[in-house]
Amino acid sequence: MKPAPASTYAAAHAASLANPAGFWAEQAQAIQWDTQPMQPLAFEKGLYRWFKGGRLNTCYLCLDYHVANGRAEQVALIQDSPVTNTVRRFTYRELLDLTARFAGGLRDLGVSHGDRVIIYMPNVPEAVVAMLACARLGAVHSVVFGGFAPHELAVRINDAQPKVIISASGGIEIDKIIPYKPLVDAAIEQASHKPAHVVVLQRDALAQRVHAHMQPGRDVDYQALLRAEPAACVPVAATDPLYILYTSGTTGKPKGVVRDNGGHAVALRYSMSAIYGVQPGETFWAASDIGWAVGHSYIVYGPLLHGCSSVLYEGKPVRTPDAGAFWRVIQEHGVSVLFTAPTAIRAIKKEDPEGLLRKHYNLGSLRHLFLAGERCDPATYEWAGAHLGVPVVDHWWQTESGWPMLATMVGLADMPAPRAGSAGHPVPGYDVQILDEAGQPVPAGTTGLVAVHLPLPPGCLPTLWHDDERFRQSYLSTFPGYYLSGDGGYQDAEGYLYIMGRVDDVINVAGHRLSTGEMEELLAAHSAVAECAVLGIACELRGQRPVGLVVLKDGQTIGEAQLETELVQRIREKIGAVACFRQVLVVKRLPKTRSGKILRKTMRQLADGEAFSTPSTIDDPAILDEIKAAMAQRGMGRAFEQTADLVPAPSA
Ligand code: COA
Ligand code: AMP
Repeated sequence: MKPAPASTYAAAHAASLANPAGFWAEQAQAIQWDTQPMQPLAFEKGLYRWFKGGRLNTCYLCLDYHVANGRAEQVALIQDSPVTNTVRRFTYRELLDLTARFAGGLRDLGVSHGDRVIIYMPNVPEAVVAMLACARLGAVHSVVFGGFAPHELAVRINDAQPKVIISASGGIEIDKIIPYKPLVDAAIEQASHKPAHVVVLQRDALAQRVHAHMQPGRDVDYQALLRAEPAACVPVAATDPLYILYTSGTTGKPKGVVRDNGGHAVALRYSMSAIYGVQPGETFWAASDIGWAVGHSYIVYGPLLHGCSSVLYEGKPVRTPDAGAFWRVIQEHGVSVLFTAPTAIRAIKKEDPEGLLRKHYNLGSLRHLFLAGERCDPATYEWAGAHLGVPVVDHWWQTESGWPMLATMVGLADMPAPRAGSAGHPVPGYDVQILDEAGQPVPAGTTGLVAVHLPLPPGCLPTLWHDDERFRQSYLSTFPGYYLSGDGGYQDAEGYLYIMGRVDDVINVAGHRLSTGEMEELLAAHSAVAECAVLGIACELRGQRPVGLVVLKDGQTIGEAQLETELVQRIREKIGAVACFRQVLVVKRLPKTRSGKILRKTMRQLADGEAFSTPSTIDDPAILDEIKAAMAQRGMGRAFEQTADLVPAPSA
């Protein structure tokens, strides 16, 4: 494989926009194809497709290629699990052996090219093996984050229609065990589609405390699959889906983001050297969960495509066992690049503000800290830089893109240095523009809608699972010729871009993407609720946290505390504890425009103590005073000196 040519940032970016097909055809030479693509970029039925005619296998590129090319004995994956007191290292040869045998087991269960497999597992190597095994067979995996409740899993089962679900007996959240298998059973019960088999990893580390009940005929032990004859790689079309990853939209129906094989491999391989500046053989750590896009791209595929050693961490930045956990992992595994969410740094900073624990560790291997998943406040940015002593790079991307759209690309020459508050500059392939409501570019310094001129580069979603129309409607129809990101932001006079937050019903809670629209649907279904609004208000630790404002139906006498308990429980049951929905305020009326639109943004600004002008279209300005008084009384929001930490998780 030929490495990407050295280039300045400006030259690479300009070349990628002037001739996208040529630029990416050159990058495509860095991976091994079974059949070379005939057409780098095709346009069909109004949608772009990369590398048509090409055939390859992503698992081959991640494992077999390296075993055949001198990396067989190099560590591919490092499991570091403070919650089970485990550190395990898998060489490329070992990971290939496990994956080929597990793929054989899946094949024997009837899984083949194009079949869907849902993976609902904690951050364990067996989950990585399951993902790669699907890729090996040409099957399409869909990993569902373990923090989601059965209802969310059921929605995804119905949409993806998996032949098999792979799960585990349980996961560990700091000091409590989450038994996964009963959640899978409940989800299958709720779903209309029934998978043929459920493969269950009985975790040895949890054997004393949780053992999954197996349903005869349907359920199969994970280890049994490993006894199968190894499966060979099945070459697939570059445009065939590698995986579906569901992400929150504005309604209760998540969007099934499709990732293809060819564009994904080319883009991720390029990103490892150009954006993250890592060399094959070095250790890369994305402190995320395999259930998120970051976990897919930078725990599993990116580092393995590039021949790195990847760290898979099952723990938190704090309390497993302390705020020095990340520094220990960096030292112990010689991590060159760490990628995490600002929330994780805020959590560490909160528990160890002076960075005393950091001094116990030698972080000499670390070159860069990359942050993404939510806006990074300058204070967190500065703290991280001061205590780690390495450049901190805030970079912006989404599940939809699968890899960064804005960054400081440390692997390219003449890149402008990172700057606090900015997510950097557009990555080659991305023509990022800030547009006004009419779709016109705004002047520097003016906030607008962040859009990307088409075509999107390889690696980005070509469509939504079985729903081209929703893809067009959600992302492409507002401004023809552009992909609309859903974020607001601006560009300064020197070209730095700043992402300020979502302009739709999506919020980021501890780097976890959630839909307030979905939460509203769930609250509105309560028999006492006439109407409601869910706001993502500022949270010192998690960036944002959702709170509910509800208006009772006439004649309802339920107490506020009781209703709050029921609604909080409802969101935990339906979406999951990860939503961190903990506060509900009963109000007499919600502020609206004269056309009936609830003024959610104004209420959020009220709670956050931001300056705002009362919208001229407001129906009754007095309602805002009522809301403000109610928020003040309950201490809801930064404006009223309350933080999420004062709102404990319910004990149930
Ligand atoms: N499975 C089951 N439950 C989960 C879960 C999982 N994988 N992940 C989180 N939860 C639960 C937690 O147990 C908690 O439940 P509780 O309300 O009963 O206490 C709830 O969801 C909220 O979890 P979390 O936001 O993780 O809170 P926390 O107090 O445990 O940890 C942080 C706070 C800031 C340390 C943690 O959120 C964190 O590490 N954030 C970084 C996030 C990140 O890396 N995101 C990746 C995107 S790049
Ligand atoms: P997800 O799809 O879960 O990766 O979430 C994507 C969303 O996270 C984006 O649309 C942004 O709102 C937010 N986000 C990700 N990275 C950044 C960043 N560096 N700065 C600001 N917001 C970010």
